[in-house]
Amino acid sequence: MHTKIIKIESETTDIGEAADLIRAGELVAFPTETVYGLGADALKADAARKIYAAKGRPSDNPLIVHIADFSQLEYIAAKVPKEAKILADAFWPGPMTLIVPKNGRVPYETTGGMDTVAVRMPNHPVALRLIRESGCLIAAPSANRSGKPSPTEAGHVFCDLDGRIPLILDGGAVGIGLESTIVDLTEETPMILRPGYINKAMLEEALHTEVKLDPGLAGADSVERPKAPGMKYKHYAPDADLIVVEGKSADVVETINALVLEMKEAGKKTGVIAASETRERYRADHVVSIGAREDEDAIARHLYKLLREFDALRVDVIYSESFQTPRIGQAIMNRLVKAAGHQVIKVEKPPERQNERNDETV
Ligand code: TXA
Ligand code: MG
Repeated sequence: MHTKIIKIESETTDIGEAADLIRAGELVAFPTETVYGLGADALKADAARKIYAAKGRPSDNPLIVHIADFSQLEYIAAKVPKEAKILADAFWPGPMTLIVPKNGRVPYETTGGMDTVAVRMPNHPVALRLIRESGCLIAAPSANRSGKPSPTEAGHVFCDLDGRIPLILDGGAVGIGLESTIVDLTEETPMILRPGYINKAMLEEALHTEVKLDPGLAGADSVERPKAPGMKYKHYAPDADLIVVEGKSADVVETINALVLEMKEAGKKTGVIAASETRERYRADHVVSIGAREDEDAIARHLYKLLREFDALRVDVIYSESFQTPRIGQAIMNRLVKAAGHQVIKVEKPPERQNERNDETV
């Protein structure tokens, strides 16, 4: 199959061909504000099946249904929890997905066999136009091959899905770069199943109630399984071995440089992901800056692109600084630590030394 790319030049670029494909039950990759999505008619079982086939995705991993109007959530939900309206008013269109009970209009192919459905109104003009012009609700997972980082540019989608889908709408680089926050509204207390740009404090402020974090997200340390089926798969994994190093800034630099030296002596090619402030202090084969430490939006936006670039550089091992930033740090670290297969080195130097240094923890 030939994969065509339509470059979106303006709000009036014709996307009729994309809308026709969606209506015909075919696949179209399109930009959203979080990552690129691989879309198909959410209410057609056959169309949903094609998504799993193109991505190589396990069929028990449900899709997110993208809508352009709140009434479309009401159309597919068996029950609309009161929190859904409040959160939609606060954050839609935007990077938040709500899990609600589904009704019979949504095929089990879309929900991976579950009786609940994930719904999101994306904040991107092309995504909203595609939903409106096709007249369809659009099921869309991230538009990567299963196991690759989510695509933040059309080129990433092409790299993964060339020859497997008919069309990519190229709307340029995305704004956020991490997938949406998933909030489960099917139980007593709202629960975050996947952290994202909309954080716990923002949700609690809008709802005026407590919001829980899925205990299964603790990863390697957790005895519970994550509630979002997708969070249990090893995702976002670069080809190289990735190890996150956590601790005071100077100690992290020292530890990474020692590890890099050891690897070099063993004949391995090394890479480092660093904040712009510490970038110059590393001696690896490839040192990349993810952005300034205060600019957490940039760190989130660059993460997946950097992981893909490292695959192309064919390094054997990548060491990354840790980025526990205040607002989206939880989401950034969730993705980074997963990409690392939970390999985290915590550097703890004796307290006397830490006092002497007085530098920040990273
Ligand atoms: O930002 C995003 O959410 C992007 C863009 C394209 O909208 N989409 C995205 O989709 O990240 P995907 O398929 O890569 O991730 C969907 C996640 C998976 O972890 C899946 O298991 C979970 O949502 N999910 C979907 N439906 C669910 C349900 N009914 N219950 C629990 N988890 C669900
Ligand atoms: Mg995904």
